[in-house]
Amino acid sequence: MEKHKILILNGPNLGHIGKRQPEIYGTESMEDLGDILAKSMGDRAESIELEYFQANSEGALIDRLEKAREDGVAGIAFNAGAYTHTSLAIADCLAWIEVPCVEVHLSNIWARTDQPLRQQSLMGASCIGVIAGFGIMSYAMAVQALLDHISR
Ligand code: DQA
Repeated sequence: MEKHKILILNGPNLGHIGKRQPEIYGTESMEDLGDILAKSMGDRAESIELEYFQANSEGALIDRLEKAREDGVAGIAFNAGAYTHTSLAIADCLAWIEVPCVEVHLSNIWARTDQPLRQQSLMGASCIGVIAGFGIMSYAMAVQALLDHISR
């Protein structure tokens, strides 16, 4: 079976998911994603090869995005954390690399009305879609959306 490489890319402060402010971001960790995908995707999970990368710095994330293009990665599920709202550099990178990307958030950024900046995404315009508010399940949904998109 042909395997599609999917990159799970996490930005700043997303190296400790499950421990960081669990009341906002949930208690499940990235290590739970494999099992969640196996349960929710069944046999389709066998057609994907997951790669994981997390960095706290903007440049390292951009380097990894460029590498994804060079490596022929088929899709990216990208939670850029706070850079979602502020980084023109990451948005510029997504605009040219031509790798389908889904913007991912653990929390529902639009429901966090006490912090209006979180409702703005600079990268969203260069993504095929956005999934937010489902905790770790947001990543599983993004992987499924990418696989559907790639298979179309
Ligand atoms: C986040 C939402 C961002 O606003 C925040 O800066 C994060 C996490 C999320 O997954 O809900 O670091 O991207």
